[in-house]
Amino acid sequence: MIALAEPMGRIAYDEKNSAAFAAGRQLNLDGLAAWRAAVARHLPARAGLRLLDLGAGTGTWSAAFRQWYGAEVLAVEPAAAMRARCAYPVLVAGRAEALPVAAASLDGAWISTVIHHLPDLPAVAAELRRTLRPGAPVLIRSVFAGRGGGISLFRWFPEALRVVESYPSVADICAAFGEAGFAPVALESVPQVTAPSLGAAAVGLRRAAHTPLLLLDDADYDRGVARLRAAADRAPEAPVVDSLDLLVLR
Ligand SMILES: C[S@@+](CC[C@H](N)C(=O)[O-])C[C@H]1O[C@@H](n2cnc3c(N)ncnc32)[C@H](O)[C@@H]1O
Repeated sequence: MIALAEPMGRIAYDEKNSAAFAAGRQLNLDGLAAWRAAVARHLPARAGLRLLDLGAGTGTWSAAFRQWYGAEVLAVEPAAAMRARCAYPVLVAGRAEALPVAAASLDGAWISTVIHHLPDLPAVAAELRRTLRPGAPVLIRSVFAGRGGGISLFRWFPEALRVVESYPSVADICAAFGEAGFAPVALESVPQVTAPSLGAAAVGLRRAAHTPLLLLDDADYDRGVARLRAAADRAPEAPVVDSLDLLVLR
């Protein structure tokens, strides 16, 4: 008997895709200074801060929040193959629609590049309303429909933007969370160093690490790889800087 049904969202976080994510999507904390500052604007550090990292994956952000803010972070992740690759120790199996968390026990929820994997946003919003203390923020880091322009990957794989158009928009999320009593308080575009160089990005690219690339057809993918390699040949040392959105609701 399976104790926890793993969600089958847009893609399965099975062994293959989880291994690709762990190899191809790790961010260096040195390149995340703007994210550190952006989150701190909405979640001032204080002793005893208790955060949820929802869909924590390999635990990069859980570890960052513990290091940056001294926060007590609970990482929740449904996929066994991702949990197996997560070095962050406070990790439990669970999914956004049924959180293994007591009512009104959290000071914030962090949801990084997960929201497009959650088909039942009203159920997720209701669970977050139940588990967050009144006034605590939901911090969503993502690319949203209509807002993919800050991501270099889509310069090389422009067809992948079609996949992003099927992701929830900011309006979709605000509507679902509004039903649970949350209101949007901020939407900002936040830069990060995704890779130290284009050369490293070209070598490190893993198709299975990126949902929009997995959902492309093979010919479009192959053309994108050729574009990325050509860009890397022209400027191998150029850093890869991307901007994703931070949407905050309370
Ligand atoms: C692109 S990864 C992001 C991992 C991590 N948050 C990060 O930013 O590095 C998406 C994660 O969402 C998780 N996920 C998918 N469906 C979920 C659900 N229903 N509830 C919680 N997490 C889910 C996947 O298992 C996967 O680990």
